[in-house]
Amino acid sequence: MNDKEVTKEKVFIRTFGCQMNVRDSEVICGLLKEEGYKIADDTQDADIVLFNTCSVRQHAEERVWSEIGRYKNKKIIGVVGCMASNYKEKIFERAPNVSLVVGPQDIHKIPEIIKVLTEDKVLFERKIWETDGELRPAEIYHTGFYQDKEHAYVVISEGCSNYCSYCVVPYVRSALRNRNYKDILKEIEEALDRGITKITLLGQNVNAYQDTGHKPQATSSPKPAACSLQPQTLNFVKLLEMVNKIMGLKEFSFITSHPKDTSLDLFKVMADSGKLKKYLHLPVQSGSDKILRLMNRGYTKKFYLDLVHNYRKMVKDGVLTTDIIVGFPTENEEDFQETYDLVKKIECDAAYIFKYSPRPHTEAVKFVDDISRAEKERRHRLILELQKEISKKKSVKSK
Ligand code: SAH
Ligand code: SF4
Ligand code: F3S
Repeated sequence: MNDKEVTKEKVFIRTFGCQMNVRDSEVICGLLKEEGYKIADDTQDADIVLFNTCSVRQHAEERVWSEIGRYKNKKIIGVVGCMASNYKEKIFERAPNVSLVVGPQDIHKIPEIIKVLTEDKVLFERKIWETDGELRPAEIYHTGFYQDKEHAYVVISEGCSNYCSYCVVPYVRSALRNRNYKDILKEIEEALDRGITKITLLGQNVNAYQDTGHKPQATSSPKPAACSLQPQTLNFVKLLEMVNKIMGLKEFSFITSHPKDTSLDLFKVMADSGKLKKYLHLPVQSGSDKILRLMNRGYTKKFYLDLVHNYRKMVKDGVLTTDIIVGFPTENEEDFQETYDLVKKIECDAAYIFKYSPRPHTEAVKFVDDISRAEKERRHRLILELQKEISKKKSVKSK
């Protein structure tokens, strides 16, 4: 090896949380590889360990805190993702072995920050944090790094502006930003060139996707009126139709849908498209209108049931999954029973059930967390058992 050639460090990213984080970890790996860093197979093999973290429930954060504490002999230990945004420089106080904290909007700065830290002679003393910066540059999605050889996650929107009262996501990931549709299609084409055949479009609320690009200005027109910009809105269903037409793509799907923005047009595309998987993850959270209102979900139980009814009618053999939160503040036995009955009625293929945990910044953190841990556990268990029965019944039927 040439004397001047420097062997760059090996980096391992430990990913927690949702598929957005899975994709962000790939993006970070891709950017690091472009700068000559190696991606380690596990934490033991790595000089640098980055934790890509989730703040959605307290339990998720506790797991990260306890894991970070175990690492002492690494060149750099970093916290990126939603906890970085949630705790910022306070992470250095709670975890003194951490020397890099970078929030989700700033992941493209990670290679440069690592360079500064590794060139610094006083490692472990110098600490850098960078959160809530400008929006992510479009290029970061084009490094071509995907974990899977056949399937790729493709981000269509970042952040969320729904402000469900229990949810920390809008605070740690900021408001909804839509990616330019041409850039999304370009990334898909590039992925297909690399042998990918299946795609999952990602967003916290994909149904709210909109590209409000503008037609180019007509420069040669003599009339000033003709020069004005024409708004050209492309919504989620239109995007799906465009993706469906991409040659070489075998199958695609999307997550997550919000009931209030889910339209019958979407079901129609799903029924007709051929490539779009007949799979809908439609989190309901609760079956009680009182709780749904307190959660700021923007729909009622009836609205949700009608949506499911139409989905079943229009998308034959469509798979349906949902999320439920039990023990939200003031949820009494009657409210819980309504959720239980709804779960029974909609017969999902799978339901993910969570015990409510108060999150910083959110509206609900101002409510008294009045349902005891034991009661949350009881409600969690009851719905889990019910769903197990339903899933079993459904899998027998489909055989
Ligand atoms: N954008 C998606 C996913 C959000 S997070 C959506 O709107 O569905 C995934 C799930 O975590 C949510 O659907 C919700 O069921 C659960 N969740 C979010 N915040 C929570 C909290 N404070 N306590 C318990 N569960 C929570
Ligand atoms: Fe959170 Fe609601 Fe946005 Fe989902 S839609 S990320 S639950 S605020
Ligand atoms: Fe968690 Fe952040 Fe995803 S809080 S659920 S990793 S957007």
